[in-house]
Amino acid sequence: MHNPVMLSEVLKTLSPQKQETYIDATFGAGNYTRSILDKADCHVIALDRDPEAKRRAEPLEKKYKGRFSFIEGRFGDMDRLVPGHSYDGIVFDLGVSSPQIDDPARGFSFKAEGPLDMRMEKKGLSASDVVNTFAAKQIASILWEYGEERRSRAIAKAIVEKRPFQTTKELAEVVRDVVGFERKGFDPATRTFQALRLYVNEELGQLERGLEASEKLLKKGGRLVVVSFHSLEDRIVKTFLRERSGGVPHASRYRPEAPQQKPTFKVKSRKALRPTDQEIRKNPRARSAKLRWAIRLEGTS
Ligand SMILES: C[S@@+](CC[C@H](N)C(=O)[O-])C[C@H]1O[C@@H](n2cnc3c(N)ncnc32)[C@H](O)[C@@H]1O
Repeated sequence: MHNPVMLSEVLKTLSPQKQETYIDATFGAGNYTRSILDKADCHVIALDRDPEAKRRAEPLEKKYKGRFSFIEGRFGDMDRLVPGHSYDGIVFDLGVSSPQIDDPARGFSFKAEGPLDMRMEKKGLSASDVVNTFAAKQIASILWEYGEERRSRAIAKAIVEKRPFQTTKELAEVVRDVVGFERKGFDPATRTFQALRLYVNEELGQLERGLEASEKLLKKGGRLVVVSFHSLEDRIVKTFLRERSGGVPHASRYRPEAPQQKPTFKVKSRKALRPTDQEIRKNPRARSAKLRWAIRLEGTS
């Protein structure tokens, strides 16, 4: 088992029950799915956009025959991909999985030498396309918007001067040269790599669409549980839940004068849940995790 983040909190809030059906929107290494299926005699449909996740799901389809199925696809399209629309719970564990990070060939990590790839679906625009072909201005705005990188312009300038880049390590070194080490234990390349990954996989747009899809798919009383890893993701989850729980009127660009709608969620975590110190000591990846959860009400979306 890879180290699943905040697993006990996920099980507590999702609260698997006999006969119920859940969606694991981010199968990854399958740790949440396995634990949910072991916790109660329930059903799980799992999604992942990474074609390699499908291979990891196959043994589970055998072991939990009739209780588990896997769909390769994006959670932003979840309402079209899964059958029916009356689920008891949906869980998201955002970001990259341990198998993705640990395989240098996927190009997610700056700690190991690997190609500048970062594509969860192994197709489409790669990180290499961005750093080797985009204009400095575009690169700077990606680093600023998706990495909240204050030195975005200086890094973009250095990237354009030093390119082409083949590997993750080459890129990380240039970023470190520009930014310099700021604090112990934090690699200055972190924000640049986060930004490229979010951009290449359009992760924030996926999250917005995934939350909207959950609103359609959950039945009354259904639980929505989201584990996020950085402030950009958490802000989207927090804003969505605030709007849907009646905290602010949820106008849209199509209906700017929307009347106050009936809330569709009751937020159960005004303050996000955090991993215990013990978990962080055991698994440093859990350090920045935040769990927010809510219960679906009757209101229509
Ligand atoms: C942090 S891992 C999940 C780990 C999992 N909870 C476990 O216990 O093993 C996140 C997974 O979500 C997948 N993912 C990210 N964005 C996605 C999206 N928009 N649609 C479907 N899967 C996505 C990634 O490919 C990755 O495998």
